[in-house]
Amino acid sequence: MTDNQQYFAVTTSHRPSPVQVSLATKLSDELSVPFIPRNDLSIETMISNTGVIGMMVVSAQRISFFTGISEFFFHPGLARLRINELKNGKTDQMIQAMSLGAGDTLLDCTLGLGTDAIVASYVSGTSGRVTGIESSLLIATIVGHGLKTYRNEDINQAMQRVEVTYSHHKDYLAGLPARSYDVVYFDPMFRTPRKKSPAMDAMRAIANPDPIDCESIALALKVCNRRVVMKERRWSKEFERLGFKEIRGGRYAPVVYGVMDRQGIG
Ligand SMILES: C[S@@+](CC[C@H](N)C(=O)[O-])C[C@H]1O[C@@H](n2cnc3c(N)ncnc32)[C@H](O)[C@@H]1O
Repeated sequence: MTDNQQYFAVTTSHRPSPVQVSLATKLSDELSVPFIPRNDLSIETMISNTGVIGMMVVSAQRISFFTGISEFFFHPGLARLRINELKNGKTDQMIQAMSLGAGDTLLDCTLGLGTDAIVASYVSGTSGRVTGIESSLLIATIVGHGLKTYRNEDINQAMQRVEVTYSHHKDYLAGLPARSYDVVYFDPMFRTPRKKSPAMDAMRAIANPDPIDCESIALALKVCNRRVVMKERRWSKEFERLGFKEIRGGRYAPVVYGVMDRQGIG
């Protein structure tokens, strides 16, 4: 589903504070969607009264998107665990595939929940830079807000450093000069879900499901200074289709990383 078809409105939780109401009205202006006062109504009633596909809800803790069946909201997922493992000297397969280190810059072309971007931001540190591109307006808004406001002492700074941009990655890449980022990363939605989970279902309802196209990979190779990395299922035909010959990752891992070095490209 594309965002143009995603007609939604913004509201608040029950008995909102003035801060919530002002954030909800600000979002409604910025996103050009209606603000509907909550007035003790259930989300289901609001959806059926207005005919929207879902409601963005500003509560005291977070911004969520409710469809009536699922709720999408920001959380750092496995980022904290992965960062703790790195602190304990363990290897992170994604970081290794990227050869990412302190001071490096990463363009994450498929931000999603931002889990990978947070881990990369921790590794690249204050002298590095991580930019996350997301083409779902709902995901870009909710994750962008979550990264700036979620409180977790261990990873606050890494989360806050991730810069979020709402754009299709092909358009964004096309506007960048050559060698703008050390690494360009893609983690598209899997063609078929790996396992059913309410969190994944909530994301699938609003994510861009399109496969990566060859033109985006060609642009990414120009924009990177070191390499392009793509995450996919181990036996995915996407690697071959897009020209990835080198595959890295754990020997038995179901998910691996295709790597394309810039070397040799003008
Ligand atoms: C599998 S998720 C990425 C998960 C992410 N790596 C993480 O750690 O949370 C894929 C995300 O990429 C977004 N996406 C898909 N195609 C895109 C495109 N052309 N431009 C920008 N974002 C895109 C989807 O909307 C979805 O949010």
